[in-house]
Amino acid sequence: MRLGMRRLKRCQLRLLLTCFSALLVIGYWENIDNAFVSHVMSFSYRYLVNSFSFINATLRVSPEDALKYSDRRYLINHEKKCLNEDVLLLLFVKSSSEHFDRRQAIRSTWGNETYIEAKLGIRIRVLFALGLHPNPEHRRTLTTRLLFEDQKYQDLIQQDFIDSFHNLTLKLLLQLAWKETFCPYAQFLMSADDDVFVHVPNMIRYLQLYGRGDHKDLWVGRVHRGSPPIRDKYSKYYVSRDLYPWLAYPDYTPGSGYVLSRDVASRIYRASLSLNASFHIDDVFLGICAKVAEVAPKNHMFFSGEGKAPQHHCIYEQMMTSHGHVNDIYDLWKDAELKSTETESTSPGLMWKIYCTIMKVRLLCLPLLSNTYPCKAAFVHQDL
Ligand SMILES: *[C@@H]1O[C@H](CO)[C@@H](O)[C@H](O)[C@H]1NC(C)=O
Ligand SMILES: *[C@@H]1O[C@H](CO)[C@@H](O)[C@H](O)[C@H]1NC(C)=O
Ligand SMILES: *[C@@H]1O[C@H](CO)[C@@H](O)[C@H](O)[C@H]1NC(C)=O
Ligand SMILES: *[C@@H]1O[C@H](CO)[C@@H](O)[C@H](O)[C@H]1NC(C)=O
Repeated sequence: MRLGMRRLKRCQLRLLLTCFSALLVIGYWENIDNAFVSHVMSFSYRYLVNSFSFINATLRVSPEDALKYSDRRYLINHEKKCLNEDVLLLLFVKSSSEHFDRRQAIRSTWGNETYIEAKLGIRIRVLFALGLHPNPEHRRTLTTRLLFEDQKYQDLIQQDFIDSFHNLTLKLLLQLAWKETFCPYAQFLMSADDDVFVHVPNMIRYLQLYGRGDHKDLWVGRVHRGSPPIRDKYSKYYVSRDLYPWLAYPDYTPGSGYVLSRDVASRIYRASLSLNASFHIDDVFLGICAKVAEVAPKNHMFFSGEGKAPQHHCIYEQMMTSHGHVNDIYDLWKDAELKSTETESTSPGLMWKIYCTIMKVRLLCLPLLSNTYPCKAAFVHQDL
């Protein structure tokens, strides 16, 4: 009897202690901007709760209010650039007015529509999405240069908003609206940054293979699942609790590069027309719209993270995007070009596969290397 009582007391004590520490931890969770804790929280939220019902409850606005964000005037436009019915891919590059060199590099390498059509027989459209330079004085001189550039290449789309990090969502809406209005037939829409190398021949091959189905229901990129909002005031990606009080973002693909099929782009665009677009992180906002449209992203291991892909043929062979390229884009393109002009090669032999696996393990799996492709990508030879 006494023994039983003692055991019960010990049990209660343990229970009390557990409750207390749990409370303590919860208390800390509320106050401490600890990256580890917030990742655990957001992951738990993503996998255990996973109801983003707050989106419908708090981010929905009337269509008139939503339109205030997306209904910007076009300053430079090419309404007839993409009316063909046989465009496979519309590729929007997010650029800034002053990045003349980056645009020129893209036009002469992976973004050369004429070249791609001549060599691969595939029609793509590459356009640069721009806003206005934040500095009004610079803006005037830049406008003259931009008009000159556009006259020559006819590939700039500019809207009437200040081009700033906090206005990136407006640029996303530009791309979605333009696709819907002026490029309705293109099978896929891709969005990329102007410091990203897109391996267009690989991308086309992937989209064609995927398109053997029906070109539908695709949203592909490097998927971030259960990411927490960053509460560190000094981070570029800082988001206040007022703006986004919840623990986790819906799944999304980083804005550096992702692809949507035509139907998905349309559904996401329509969802955006009833949401409050004041949330400024564009790729997360895309995730929010996609949640409403009930589309889930598909992860592809060869869409790169923040880092630059290691230089190696075995990597280039499978690369979709690689981040952080400005001047070396010509070298990368030389390799891609060479490969794409080779006659449709037979599938690589076993020895080549073994060799590439070893090389990729060396390049991707050793710790301390930059954040490009995951280690498991070393063991994949065709990713669909
Ligand atoms: C939000 O509402 C729409 C339609 O009203 C519904 O289709 C969608 O599933 C809802 N999304 C969430 C995350 O609750
Ligand atoms: C694009 O490729 C075509 C055909 O190969 C070439 O004539 C043209 O100069 C290239 N454009 C640029 C901007 O390099
Ligand atoms: C976004 O663009 C609008 C329209 O030009 C401008 O009024 C606003 O200040 C810009 N916001 C930021 C954060 O740059
Ligand atoms: C959209 O969200 C912002 C920031 O949370 C808020 O200030 C604004 O009032 C909202 N707009 C509408 C129309 O609800």
